[in-house]
Amino acid sequence: MIIIKSPEEIKAMRESGKLTAELCALLKEKIKPGITTLSLDDLALSWIRKKNAQPAFLGYHGYPKSICSSVNEEVVHGIPGSRVLVEGDIVGIDVGVIYNGFYGDMAFTAAIGQISAEARKLLEVTEQSLYAGIREAQVFHRLTDISHAVQEHAEKNGFSVVQQYVGHGIGRQMHEDPQVPNYGAPGCGPVLKPGMTMAIEPMVNMGTYEVEVLADGWTVVTKDRKLSAHFEHSILIGDNGPEILTKI
Ligand code: MF3
Ligand code: CO
Repeated sequence: MIIIKSPEEIKAMRESGKLTAELCALLKEKIKPGITTLSLDDLALSWIRKKNAQPAFLGYHGYPKSICSSVNEEVVHGIPGSRVLVEGDIVGIDVGVIYNGFYGDMAFTAAIGQISAEARKLLEVTEQSLYAGIREAQVFHRLTDISHAVQEHAEKNGFSVVQQYVGHGIGRQMHEDPQVPNYGAPGCGPVLKPGMTMAIEPMVNMGTYEVEVLADGWTVVTKDRKLSAHFEHSILIGDNGPEILTKI
């Protein structure tokens, strides 16, 4: 069942979304060659606590950290640790915050110093795919209009989209109905209504769309170990079009 949020609930979600976006902006500033992914996690956790919010990922099905940091061929759910980010890497940072009883969920992929032209294109196209999906998140459209727009943009640029993991409804739970695939034919699934809130999160690969999970039980990597990028926003289907809740 897709939960329609009331105006009060939407107000609370704007606040949790804004907090999530502020944290992403802070992390973006800190990302440079020589830092560890653990230092980003430490910073995120202390900042979240200082804001009287809670980290959404910490303890989620036993997940051990507050953010996810996925480097290069890692797609999503990379666990922060002692790994040092070096020039030429890309890192996907995924952040979830609970505030006022509501979740915000957002991700971006950043370049560490200079990266290859190919990698830069992957980042740009993945972010554009997210916005292509958001553009379809309109009243009276259908759910898979979003999915189709994401896939079309990624594939027309020569990349592939991950199918194994999907976006999701978001609200008082991190994962609500519906699932939001990043692929598929348009015009299917539920009709979108005002007050629906969802996290749209394309994961786009340079090579094969196939992925696998490492022995740590969390880190998702591309099967061919080529690069992958991930961007995510929590959005509202508004009366007057989509509204990005995780926007500063
Ligand atoms: N954005 C991811 C999701 O929607 C974050 C979950 S990471 C986890 O599933 F560690 F909490 F699982
Ligand atoms: Co998400």
